[in-house]
Amino acid sequence: MHKIDFKKLKVVILALASLALCGRGRWITAWAQCNFPAIYNFGDTNSDTGGISAAFGPIPSPYGESFFGRPAGRYSDGRLIIDFIAENLGLPYVSSYLDSLGADFRHGANFAAGASTIVIQNETIFESGISPFSLEVQTTQFDQFKSRTYDLYQQATDPLDKTTLPRPNEFSRALYTFDIGQNDLSAAVRKLTGAQLEAVIPKMVNRFAMVLTRLYLQGARAFWIHNIGPIGWLPVATLHIRNQKPGLLDKVGCMQRLNRMVVEFNRQLKARVTNLRAELPYAAFNFIDIYSAKYDLISNAKIYGFRDPMKICCGIHESYMDVDVWCGQRAIINYTEVFGGSCGTADTYISWDGVHFSEAANHWIANRVLNGSYSDPPMPISKSCLTS
Ligand SMILES: *[C@@H]1O[C@H](CO)[C@@H](O)[C@H](O)[C@H]1NC(C)=O
Ligand SMILES: *[C@@H]1O[C@H](CO)[C@@H](O)[C@H](O)[C@H]1NC(C)=O
Repeated sequence: MHKIDFKKLKVVILALASLALCGRGRWITAWAQCNFPAIYNFGDTNSDTGGISAAFGPIPSPYGESFFGRPAGRYSDGRLIIDFIAENLGLPYVSSYLDSLGADFRHGANFAAGASTIVIQNETIFESGISPFSLEVQTTQFDQFKSRTYDLYQQATDPLDKTTLPRPNEFSRALYTFDIGQNDLSAAVRKLTGAQLEAVIPKMVNRFAMVLTRLYLQGARAFWIHNIGPIGWLPVATLHIRNQKPGLLDKVGCMQRLNRMVVEFNRQLKARVTNLRAELPYAAFNFIDIYSAKYDLISNAKIYGFRDPMKICCGIHESYMDVDVWCGQRAIINYTEVFGGSCGTADTYISWDGVHFSEAANHWIANRVLNGSYSDPPMPISKSCLTS
């Protein structure tokens, strides 16, 4: 009997592999994986894994109850899409850059912070609950992170000192992910009119493109960019509407005006990203239509096993009295103290607290988009380093 000579077999496989490499692009994409060593994320509450919590105080219970069993710096009952991205790529959950305790940056860092905007509008900070950590600030934090960890890595004499630091040579092989812009648009629709409102979108798109370019010039080569979701859906936005004018809401119950702004932003951002592919040819720009995935979920909630998409799991909201006891908050109603607690079955709700998605919804969306079916180009996230 002949034993298989694994050494020879390996040579044959390598030879076949290089043949495939010399062949057409699709041969390469058929088997290649990017093996991203790290994730660097930029965004707002959709992907904040502890930024606002570290900066301004902890998020209360029952946030985090479904997965972490305690508040975990995330505005949900459990994991966010960014957590499912990390799981999909075989990486640990991404620590928030602002978290000074227990953070592990070996495989990346998360600069996202709740309520962040692309373009910081000085007059709207704090006043309307906008965070000071705009995309530009997050990029500056990234610069600082990169140079500081580089220095610390070089200085470390004990290998143990390096265990929570990223390898300096891994920044250019990392995946750079983005999910930001919804707070710009909702603030703009609240505060601006006419020409001012129209000017907001190109300004946002330009600023976004500047940030992508800045990261590219530093060596970033794989970008995974979410467009903005249908924020006109948010149950809190439509909860207390009375005597609604015709045309205010669409057939699903979303604020049409807000969603129209989002669709226009998404169109302009996609066009800009298409241009960037030509301007910055050595990077892979993956543009993900999160809007369509989320809109599909809320318009077909029942089919996908969820309740009415306008129902909120956590908190007390009574539209006839304009009562809002937010998730995790206490208030006096009817002369009694009440607590905005959980419904206990968050996995059947799309909206966890009226503003943020439940873990079940985040999981559903991640399953839909991470395999590339909402991506341009149609590449699963594990292969999103490849320029097509
Ligand atoms: C407060 O009282 C009203 C009227 O009796 C009742 O319908 C409502 O459910 C009560 N709200 C809470 C939070 O107990
Ligand atoms: C991606 O996954 C979704 C949900 O499981 C599925 O419906 C879709 O067909 C898949 N797309 C691709 C390209 O594999």
